[in-house]
Amino acid sequence: MATTLAKAEESVEYAARLEHVSKSFAGPGGQQLVLDDISIDVAPGEFVTLLGASGCGKSTLLNLVAGLDKPTVGSIATDGRPSLMFQEHALFPWLTAGKNIELALKLRGVPKNERRDRTEELLELVRLKGAYGKRVHELSGGMRQRAALARALAQESNLLLMDEPFSALDAITRDVLHDELTRIWTETGVSVLFVTHNVREAVRLAQRVILLSSRPGRIAREWTVDIPQPRRIEDAPVAELSLEITDVLRGEIRRHGQH
Ligand SMILES: Nc1ncnc2c1ncn2[C@@H]1O[C@H](COP(=O)(O)OP(=O)(O)O)[C@@H](O)[C@H]1O
Ligand SMILES: [Mg+2]
Repeated sequence: MATTLAKAEESVEYAARLEHVSKSFAGPGGQQLVLDDISIDVAPGEFVTLLGASGCGKSTLLNLVAGLDKPTVGSIATDGRPSLMFQEHALFPWLTAGKNIELALKLRGVPKNERRDRTEELLELVRLKGAYGKRVHELSGGMRQRAALARALAQESNLLLMDEPFSALDAITRDVLHDELTRIWTETGVSVLFVTHNVREAVRLAQRVILLSSRPGRIAREWTVDIPQPRRIEDAPVAELSLEITDVLRGEIRRHGQH
């Protein structure tokens, strides 16, 4: 009995495990190595940000974790099927906010008579109460990302993959959504792998920041962020660590002769 229990616990020791992952694409000059030997463990309930310059391979890596593409070398395992959220909300414009969420519940096999209540709960969680019947074009950019987050949460996965979900929003809206995401992460205990090119955003949100170099994308360095949550993006410790990370990032960019 004890052995079975230990085994059961072992099976959830990570939300995602990437082992020696490399990815190449066929280019005009032959194979182009985009990601080189990436190993990352995301623990259950952990919030990790992947930080790097544009084009360094962040989206490629997230797509691999989502199972949308396969690594050229190495292996990826996740605790169940992850859910995804992008910069563009990707809501269906012909459905209301509520119906978009209900569709995700339906695809997960939630019985019809439970879907409406669950949808209302999710709308409340992302502070969109009353938006059930609103069409996508009636929602502001921030509200659309809230609805997209609710839809991602409707999948009840153990791992939420977020690809620059707030980069198209204005600074004030982004700030509010940082607070909301931190709250929701705390309330739900979901693991998050969050991709961004914004150093302060990475530090504001994460327990751990992983910096990727460019061409090819390699893990350059990693920081544990011990600053207590909820943080503000303008907090002195956030600014201080951001400065340190920016210096390393600049060094990486200089070293590779990019930008
Ligand atoms: N399907 C693909 N075929 C060929 N090259 C690709 C493909 N997907 C991404 N790339 C290349 O991989 C590199 C990293 O892209 P991407 O992962 O989108 O970077 P990031 O998200 O960090 O901005 C880019 O040089 C891009 O052109
Ligand atoms: Mg990208």
